[in-house]
Amino acid sequence: MAPHDLSAPAIRIDGARKVYGTGSTRMVALHDVELDIPAGRFVSVIGPSGCGKSTLLRLIANLEATDAGSVEVFGESPAAACDGKHIGFVPQTPALLPWLNVLHNVTLPHRVNRRASRKRKAGASAARPMPDMEQLLRDVGLGDAMHKLPPELSGGMQQRVAIVRALGLQPDVLLMDEPFSALDEFTRESLQGQLLDLWDHTTATVVFVTHSVTEAVRLSDQVVVMAPRPGRIVDVIDVDLPRPRSAELLTSDEFHHYEDLIRERLQSAWHSPDLPNAA
Ligand SMILES: Nc1ncnc2c1ncn2[C@@H]1O[C@H](COP(=O)(O)OP(=O)(O)O)[C@@H](O)[C@H]1O
Ligand SMILES: [Mg+2]
Repeated sequence: MAPHDLSAPAIRIDGARKVYGTGSTRMVALHDVELDIPAGRFVSVIGPSGCGKSTLLRLIANLEATDAGSVEVFGESPAAACDGKHIGFVPQTPALLPWLNVLHNVTLPHRVNRRASRKRKAGASAARPMPDMEQLLRDVGLGDAMHKLPPELSGGMQQRVAIVRALGLQPDVLLMDEPFSALDEFTRESLQGQLLDLWDHTTATVVFVTHSVTEAVRLSDQVVVMAPRPGRIVDVIDVDLPRPRSAELLTSDEFHHYEDLIRERLQSAWHSPDLPNAA
């Protein structure tokens, strides 16, 4: 485990605000967002398109800065957390290097980081040892694809490679932005199961953005419901279902109860009036 403050929540977002554009193009992407995520939790963020889900993730990943309020990752700024290699990011499209085979794609971040940390001054946090990436690939059924190039793989296989690549860095916080949204339903369900199996072997805190209510319920300890105009959190729902979450659980009454609850909250958020004082 990395030497950070374990008494702090993994992620603390306090009064975060993000505004894009000026004048007629000005838009409040996030308004007064408060959220604490305890370490080791699997949290999903759900809401209609444009409600600021990706913006929220990008603030945590240090890809954007807040205009007001703060974001902390284990008590540090997102920039410090990224420097310390505490954060992994899986984007919506896998973004693999097409000229490198699967094994080289997933080991690349480690090789790059090792070089970077050698150059870093004494006292900088050292990169962690690389786990057995070949085993991780076999665990997600990519044993036979290890020496293939990304264009030779299906979309589902490519996304599995991207997940293994992110997990290989053993991040304390794993951020995933609709990683399964481009996949067919069958592939998606199977990848959800594989992601949960992999996560089970880590201590990572996961923030997972999705459009799918079913996916949010299956994966999460907690579901954060967002609304647009301006982008804001309207509800945080605890999902008290046993783990492991097998595919059979999806047809149970308890599972449907959570799906209905979240759909209802999304509906009422959608129909709630805009917040004029958020401008
Ligand atoms: N770089 C940007 N410049 C201007 N507007 C942006 C930018 N990124 C996002 N937005 C706007 O901010 C709002 C929230 O976007 P986003 O976080 O991508 O929403 P979501 O991921 O929930 O669909 C949207 O209205 C979007 O158009
Ligand atoms: Mg998005």
